[in-house]
Amino acid sequence: MSAAPLLQVQQMQLGLADGTPLVDGVSWSLQPGQTLAVVGESGSGKSLSAMALMGLLPAAVHWHSGQALLQGQPLRELSPAQWRQLQGRRIGMVFQEPMTSLNPVMRVGEQVVEVLRCHLAMTPRQARERAVELLEGVQIPEPGRRFAHYPHQLSGGQRQRVMIAMALACDPVLLLADEPTTALDVTVQADILQLMAEQQKRRGLGVVLITHDLGVVAQVADHVVVMYGGQVMEQGPAAQLLSAPGHPYTQGLLRARPSAHRPRSERLQEIPGLVAAPSRQRAGCPFAPRCASALPLCTQQRPPAFELDAQRSSSCWLHPSGGGHG
Ligand SMILES: Nc1ncnc2c1ncn2[C@@H]1O[C@H](COP(=O)(O)OP(=O)(O)O)[C@@H](O)[C@H]1O
Ligand SMILES: [Mg+2]
Repeated sequence: MSAAPLLQVQQMQLGLADGTPLVDGVSWSLQPGQTLAVVGESGSGKSLSAMALMGLLPAAVHWHSGQALLQGQPLRELSPAQWRQLQGRRIGMVFQEPMTSLNPVMRVGEQVVEVLRCHLAMTPRQARERAVELLEGVQIPEPGRRFAHYPHQLSGGQRQRVMIAMALACDPVLLLADEPTTALDVTVQADILQLMAEQQKRRGLGVVLITHDLGVVAQVADHVVVMYGGQVMEQGPAAQLLSAPGHPYTQGLLRARPSAHRPRSERLQEIPGLVAAPSRQRAGCPFAPRCASALPLCTQQRPPAFELDAQRSSSCWLHPSGGGHG
């Protein structure tokens, strides 16, 4: 682990103008060529974290403090013009619902051409040829013919392939994918994940994959960041974190995960309690109100990230070096 990180997020805090934190002190780093999965229930701050890293935060949400570095370059201070140079060029982006990210009245091939011509010096003819190659590269059948189709003429899986072709068109160093397979059928999901993995390997891309699906995480992630209530609960190498989760929240997520090995009656088990709403004054761990192991300390004081080793940490007072022991 000596390579310089591709992307470093340092104590990032995002929130509303009145100070309500929505993403609160999040830190992680992505190594080149690796996949980092950000996982957590709906409302945990995954999408906002990604939007900050793409320069696409909603107007109501501010980047209050902390920093993010892409190949050492600080992102927080970038101007809108600098963001436009990065988006689609060094950072490729894929969202959950391609129907809303594709232009419905523009042929899909032209949309790929537009990305290419926006960032790269290409003649219309070169861009068209490259766009057909890219559509072929994401396994769109008959790419020359599909080029002229409109988004509504493609299946959901094919639209997502077009989005991936657009995201990768300018050879980015980083791919940010927010729930890229959530809107798709399970079989199509597997195909899209496989496509992303192939492209990643071929191009040596770093990937940030946002998902609420631990099955997806197990398939593709090298490193996992578990978020809840805008904070990181636990993070570490995927194999270790999934086989021996340290944080009660991760343990709950893994129990809630549907499994073919589990009897049907157990399949729909969920973590009890409602996802906490963001609030301005919240002491302690955001998961404490739903945590079966919570101690009085857990509602009073926010646990720091206790390090298990150089790569693995858990923000829980029950951690062996936390205040919940001894
Ligand atoms: N534009 C916005 N204005 C105000 N609050 C927002 C906005 N977008 C998201 N939030 C709030 O921020 C929190 C995190 O949202 P989000 O990052 O979308 O979660 P996730 O992607 O993990 O489901 C939620 O409580 C959500 O209601
Ligand atoms: Mg989201």
